[in-house]
Amino acid sequence: SATRPRVSVIGTGYLGATHAAAMAEMGFEVVGVDQDPRKVEALSAGRVPFFEPGLPELIEKHVASGRLRFTTDIAEATAASDVHFICVGTPQQATSFAANLSYVEDATAAVARNLTHRGLIVGKSTVPVGTAARLRLLVARHVSSSIDVELIWNPEFLREGKAVDDTLSPDRIVLGGASREAEETMRTLYAGPIGAGVPVISCDLPTAELVKVSANAFLATKISFINAIAEVCEAAGADVSVLADALGHDVRIGRQFLNAGLGFGGGCLPKDIRALMHRSKELGAHRAAGLMQQVDEINMAQRQSVIDKTVAAAGGSVLNRRIGVLGVAFKPFTDDVRDSPALNVAAALHLRGAQVTVHDPEANGTARSNFPTLSYATTARDAAIGASALLVLTEWPDFGAVSPDELGELVENRVVIDARNCLDAARWSAAGWRVIALGRETTVPAEAHAQSVLV
Ligand code: UDX
Repeated sequence: SATRPRVSVIGTGYLGATHAAAMAEMGFEVVGVDQDPRKVEALSAGRVPFFEPGLPELIEKHVASGRLRFTTDIAEATAASDVHFICVGTPQQATSFAANLSYVEDATAAVARNLTHRGLIVGKSTVPVGTAARLRLLVARHVSSSIDVELIWNPEFLREGKAVDDTLSPDRIVLGGASREAEETMRTLYAGPIGAGVPVISCDLPTAELVKVSANAFLATKISFINAIAEVCEAAGADVSVLADALGHDVRIGRQFLNAGLGFGGGCLPKDIRALMHRSKELGAHRAAGLMQQVDEINMAQRQSVIDKTVAAAGGSVLNRRIGVLGVAFKPFTDDVRDSPALNVAAALHLRGAQVTVHDPEANGTARSNFPTLSYATTARDAAIGASALLVLTEWPDFGAVSPDELGELVENRVVIDARNCLDAARWSAAGWRVIALGRETTVPAEAHAQSVLV
C-alpha cells in the first residue's frame, strides 16, 4: 500500500548494500538486486563481499528477520516493489574523464520495462548534471503506457568505512524533481530515525545531481588546497600540520579535510572531479573545469613528490633497494584500493626496480589481486626487514602505535617517509630515525642533531 511502500535497490555495492540494509532497519520490505550471482549469493547468506564496519551485522540481522533478500532477477524484484532505488556505479570511462552511465541507464530502463504497477524510481548514484532528465525520457520509452511512474533524484553522501552511520544518520536529505506525492513517499521511507531532525532540501533535478557532485568537488578542493599550501610550507620551512590546526579553529574553514599528505583517492573523489571537469567543459563552464583540473593536478603531484622523496632518500635510485610500505588502502578502515595513492606509489617504486614489501591491516588481499608482483607482509615488522626506507602511505592508527625502536633494529637505514603526517616525529627521531614528511621540515635523528649542535 502507499503507506507501506515496498523497496527494491538496484546495485549492491557500498551504496546499494548499505541503503538496502538501512531501509530494512527502518522496517520496510526490501529486495536488493545485482547482476553478479556471487554477490547475491554472499549477501543472501549474510556475508558482505567487501570490508565495511557494521554492515555484515545489519545485513545478517535483516536477512534473518525476513525483511531483506537479494536476487539477480530484476523483473521479479521490480514487480514485488513500489519504490526502486538506482544504486549502481558510474565509473570513469576507459578513454576519457567522462562518467560511464551505461549501468545507470541499463538499470533504469530495466526497472521501467518491468514495472507491473505504479512506481517511483529514485536515483541515488552520482551522475553528471543533466543525466536524470535524460533518464526520464528513457523511462517514458520503456514503460508500458498504462503505468504511472515518476523518477526523482535523492543523492547519497556516504563515506566508505562509515557507510552504515552515514546512511542511518545523514546530514541532509536532498530530493530532486519530486512531485508532492513522491515527496510524501520519501518522507514515509525516511520517517524513522534516518529523517528525524534532518533537513530536507527539495529542489529540481539538476540541482539535486549537482549538490552531490559539488560536495565531493569541494572536499577534493579542500584537500588540494592544503596540499598546495604544504608545498609553500616546505619551501619556507613552515609546518603544515600546525598551520592546519590553526586554520581549523576558524569555524568558517573547519579542521576536517585539511590533512596534507599523499592526497585523495578511492572510488569517488578522483572520478567525480574528473567527471565534473568533463561535464563543465561540455556546458561551457570553463572556469569550473579549470578549477577541477588544478585540483586533480595538485592531487596527482603529491604522489610524484613522495616517489621523488623516496628516490632521493635512497641516494638517487631505488634500483634493487628494499622499500617497506605501510598502508595500501586509499584511506584507513577500508580494504578498497581503487585509485589508491598508496598502491600507486608502491607500484611506481616497484616499476623503478625497487623490491617493495607492503603491509596493510585490511587491504593486502585486494592490493595483491590488483598488483600481484609486489611482496605482501602480514605485519609492519615483516615489511620493514632490511628496508632502505620505510614509507607510511595510509594513516592506519596501528602505524602510529608501532615501535620505532623495534623497527629501527630491523631496517638497513632509519629513514621513514611519513606521507600522511601521522607519525610522532619527535618519538621516531629519538629512536634514531630521519623523518621525512610532507609540508614540514625533515626531522633528523636525535643523536645526529645533538652532534650538529655541539659542532
Ligand atoms: C567521499 C565523500 O566523503 C563522501 O561524502 C562521498 O559520498 C563519497 O566520496 P570516501 O571516498 O569514502 O567518501 O572517502 P573520504 O573519507 O571522503 O576520503 C577521500 C580521500 O581523501 C581519501 O583518500 C583520504 O585519504 C583523503 N583525505 C581526506 C586527505 O588526503 N586529507 C584529508 O584531510 C581528508
